[in-house]
Amino acid sequence: MKTGECNRRDFVALAGAGAIAAAAGSAGATAATGEGKALRIVGIACSPRKGMTTARAVRAALDGAASVGARIQTELIDLGGMSIAGWSPEPPKDDMEAILEKLKDPALGGLIIGSPSYFRGISSLCKAFIERCSPLREPTMVLADKPVGVVAVGGFRNGGQELVIEQVQAAMLCFGMVPVGGKAPAFQGATLMSAKDEIAQDELGLDTAKKVGIHVAELALRLMG
Ligand SMILES: Cc1cc2nc3c(=O)[nH]c(=O)nc-3n(C[C@H](O)[C@H](O)[C@H](O)COP(=O)(O)O)c2cc1C
Repeated sequence: MKTGECNRRDFVALAGAGAIAAAAGSAGATAATGEGKALRIVGIACSPRKGMTTARAVRAALDGAASVGARIQTELIDLGGMSIAGWSPEPPKDDMEAILEKLKDPALGGLIIGSPSYFRGISSLCKAFIERCSPLREPTMVLADKPVGVVAVGGFRNGGQELVIEQVQAAMLCFGMVPVGGKAPAFQGATLMSAKDEIAQDELGLDTAKKVGIHVAELALRLMG
């Protein structure tokens, strides 16, 4: 095949790429000018320690999301210190009720869920939060087709951050959500390492958080128009 020629498969791929680029361009332009309805990107920090490294890492991701355009509004829900029990047949009366209301907002464009790595897995608080999102599946799949990005913080360089991301992504597929990683090279998601309860020194990790936020916000704009 000569340069400049393309077969049908290439054409379809190119047309698709063009459509996506056009959609991205138009969404970007709209977002930049602040036109259109506001989209909310909500971050959930699932460490029992309020305001600590997981909350800060999710905040960094939300800042990345906000940088995408004026239509993006962000909110951090820090579960640290809140009372959220796991699922049970009788829904417990705890802090989850108010959170569920926020997640039912039609303006919700996407989620960013952050968890510390606890023994190479998500925190029990993160698991409880996800279990208690069950009412968002019935009678309608409220979160369906919305992007979700994941932020994982560990105390070690290879402390299970990628396993945490996988666990959250797998769970959120049950809600019909669209798991997204970050912009290259943060393809899987945000992976941060804390040192003495700090993440400020982890520039690479903070960059992955920002890139997850940007990807979630860009996709939310494309999907919700
Ligand atoms: C019970 C427990 C288990 C932990 N297990 C891991 C682990 O497997 N891998 C890791 O990298 N860090 C592990 N850590 C460290 C935390 O992931 C790390 O300190 C994280 O920054 C805590 O988040 P926070 O500051 O938001 O509370 C563990 C901490 C606790 C309390």
